[in-house]
Amino acid sequence: MCGIVGAVSERDVQGILLEGLRRLEYRGYDSAGMAVINGKPEVQRAREVGKVAALADAISANPLAGHLGIAHTRWATHGEPSQVNAHPHMSGDRLAIVHNGIIENYQELREELKAEGFEFTSQTDTEVVAHLIGKNYKAGGNLYNAVKTAIGRLRGAFALAVVHANEPDHLVVCREGSPLVVGVGIGENFIASDQLALLPVTDRFMFLEEGDIADIRKDKIEIHDREGQAVERSISRFEHGADSADKGEYRHYMLKEIYEQPKVIKATMEGRITATRVLEQALGTDAENLLENVRHVQIIACGTSYHAGMVARYWIEDLAGVPCSVEVASEFRYRKHVIQPDTLFLCISQSGETADTLAALRQAKKAGFRAALAICNVPGSSLVRESDLVIMTQAGPEIGVASTKAFTTQLTALLIFTLALARHNGLNAEREADIVKAIHLLPGQVNDVLALDGEIEEMSKAFMDKNHSLFLGRGSQYPVAMEGALKLKEISYIHAEAYPAGELKHGPLALVDSEMPVVTVAPNNDLVEKLKSNLEEVRARGGELFVFADKAADVKPEEGLHVMQIPSVHEITAPIVYTVPLQLLSYHVAVLKGTDVDQPRNLAKSVTVE
Ligand code: G6P
Repeated sequence: MCGIVGAVSERDVQGILLEGLRRLEYRGYDSAGMAVINGKPEVQRAREVGKVAALADAISANPLAGHLGIAHTRWATHGEPSQVNAHPHMSGDRLAIVHNGIIENYQELREELKAEGFEFTSQTDTEVVAHLIGKNYKAGGNLYNAVKTAIGRLRGAFALAVVHANEPDHLVVCREGSPLVVGVGIGENFIASDQLALLPVTDRFMFLEEGDIADIRKDKIEIHDREGQAVERSISRFEHGADSADKGEYRHYMLKEIYEQPKVIKATMEGRITATRVLEQALGTDAENLLENVRHVQIIACGTSYHAGMVARYWIEDLAGVPCSVEVASEFRYRKHVIQPDTLFLCISQSGETADTLAALRQAKKAGFRAALAICNVPGSSLVRESDLVIMTQAGPEIGVASTKAFTTQLTALLIFTLALARHNGLNAEREADIVKAIHLLPGQVNDVLALDGEIEEMSKAFMDKNHSLFLGRGSQYPVAMEGALKLKEISYIHAEAYPAGELKHGPLALVDSEMPVVTVAPNNDLVEKLKSNLEEVRARGGELFVFADKAADVKPEEGLHVMQIPSVHEITAPIVYTVPLQLLSYHVAVLKGTDVDQPRNLAKSVTVE
């Protein structure tokens, strides 16, 4: 969702805040703003509609130099993207605030504050918080107490950073349901929604806990927990090189991230498998004990991570013989569920901050699942901190809003997990060795698919002027088709729907004509013959087919049937390999259409609000 960044330093913070915003832009990019305190009696503020670049232009024309400041990049929730709705919001001309999250009771507070004479200039929930803090401040408090009292009245999820021109040496921040990290410097300190924002200035971070409120000065950080107790939060170092947040030679982050997959899949398997076995201990010291007693797996996730869960279900039931359910978090959290005894609750999330996934986890804990396992890419994220067992994917920072390397590393981690679980459920050493060997081949096989990039780019031209498309797969390739369709719609804005190929004749066949390209993934498994019949059904209706097929599957190119041969891969690891050509296809269609590939319209990378 929105991104916030703040700094207090001996040097001018304007450049630090702008760079932080650029790095947070993946979280929201409909407007951006900055507020700085620089010795004048009032806060200096700039806000612009559009991307951070628009704010940078405004600031270069009218600099906001100062030693204390906060900044924000927005993904609108309350009120349209506009200058008046852009953050920072103010109460009077001395107090400024940036906010990420949603205040659920803002209407009621707004009415109350209006009745007391406060005037509102925006439609946002954030301005309510600004006035609430402003009111407390006027009542004789200092900024810290004013914030503390105000948050006692707020319902919802939020991370806030607040400054006041009367107190030019610190900012007050708090976290309740939305991410916030403190960047620790020397003679300067920072805050942000994500560590990435601060990598140019520090690699040392403190993760605030839910309910924490912190007073950040250039040489001191004081944190109090929800109960008002002074607390220490440990400092950890950022694990990936600072360069990983740069685009390098690539035209887009998405392309860079697609090409990083051989490396990050390898990093995700490293230390977790030998040549022939999964090292269960590497999944956590308690993994063996925990997995021994699992009788059911409940997977929860959103978006691309949900598709990873869908693939994992095939693996878990096939290899471990353990029943597995998969559900999107926003559905799961709002319905009654029947909990099977000894259920492992498995959350998959790139960011570890997706509001619906976290809410589902918290509910599950109360409902009494056996244990919670997280597959996650961001160390120190809420999901990681709140789960019993964690398998970190090693994708490194993923900036492109459309997820690519996070997905294939999630699948790699999920397959390793499945093998560990399967070992407790009768998987023999020979079969385990067969699959582990196939996992070792993945980086090379993904590289082979990347070598097809030029041909896929050529193929993408056929999609440019189309408005609809269909993606087909069978078995564990059905979720791969879903992921392929999601990629295409996210970044090229072409309507794309995925169907299990066997369902074609139950409805979607009616849509097939020459204007509806049909993409199919066809590895060589025991469903391939059935899949070929499905392809014939499409061809007979004049549909144009684009098939990614194993050589051995023997799908021959013909009029209206374009075949791209994918190197032969193991049936179990095939979903990982077959995802990659679909990523490249979407990427090239989007580039041809000229869309904003890394920051597609209306979407955000990390959805920390409901
Ligand atoms: C957003 C992103 C998707 C992502 C989903 C779940 O919608 O745009 O790429 O798959 O959130 O995010 P998570 O961080 O929980 O995997």
